[in-house]
Amino acid sequence: MKTSGNTILITGGATGIGFGLAEAFINAGNRVLICGRRQAKLEEARLKLPDLQIFQCDVTSKDGRESLCNWVKNQHPSLNILVNNAGVSGLIDFKKGVPEAFKSEDEIETNLKAPVLLSGYFIPLLLGKTDAAIINISSGLAFIPLVSSPLYGATKAGLHSFSLALRFQLKDTNIKVFELMPPICDTDLGKDASDDAPRPSYLKGIPPSEFAKDALTAIENDQYEFASGEAKQLKDGSQRNFEETFQSTNSR
Ligand SMILES: NC(=O)c1ccc[n+]([C@@H]2O[C@H](COP(=O)([O-])OP(=O)(O)OC[C@H]3O[C@@H](n4cnc5c(N)ncnc54)[C@H](OP(=O)(O)O)[C@@H]3O)[C@@H](O)[C@H]2O)c1
Repeated sequence: MKTSGNTILITGGATGIGFGLAEAFINAGNRVLICGRRQAKLEEARLKLPDLQIFQCDVTSKDGRESLCNWVKNQHPSLNILVNNAGVSGLIDFKKGVPEAFKSEDEIETNLKAPVLLSGYFIPLLLGKTDAAIINISSGLAFIPLVSSPLYGATKAGLHSFSLALRFQLKDTNIKVFELMPPICDTDLGKDASDDAPRPSYLKGIPPSEFAKDALTAIENDQYEFASGEAKQLKDGSQRNFEETFQSTNSR
């Protein structure tokens, strides 16, 4: 897949890995659109990258998805790549019952339902392009769940499975389906806004820009599944020795 001359929408592109990808794609000569819920973060991103096109919306709401889709169709009809990157992660203790189960809705809506429905919204537009792609950002935790975040792994496993099926369904079309599994990256993922505590050391990772650079190379080489760093260890470990990888991942 060529990595220049595209029009690319990155959900959750104002921060973290999404912003790293936005920056790498802009530097490679692409038009990049981003969306997110916080207007201030979107504007902050555009201050750093003035060529960014920004749109405020919540991808978990039907109105948010529809307004995003209409904005793209009307203002940026050249869109040929959708990056489903927006994601959330939380600690959930199911021993606490219903309140915790409701907390988990956010993860299901953001990490799984939104990418699935946005794919549905955008595929008709992408089918009209010469080259097109859907790029899903999943995780090594799709293969080995973290017990403390049971829904995160479940939603990423769902996104992995969806990516496999969609790739096969679209194989005779112009749309390529990629799945990128980042290593641990230094971002705000899972950070409680009211909590200033530093991230535990096992969550210290690489800068998102480093992952973004490797991700563009993988996309250029049509590497449809790209797992890097810890994600690769988890994916490979789940196939080689699931039990041992599960225990060591959950004993930190
Ligand atoms: N960091 C890691 O180590 C790591 C490893 C593997 C995979 N990942 C995956 O990488 C992706 C990006 O995460 P990140 O680490 O870069 O964390 P991040 O900086 O917190 O990025 C998440 C982005 O998603 C946006 N977002 C969240 N909910 C949204 C919603 N309902 N509607 C629209 N935008 C929404 C957030 O913006 P607003 O809050 O303003 O909406 C934010 O910009 C996620 O899918 C995550 O699961 C991360």
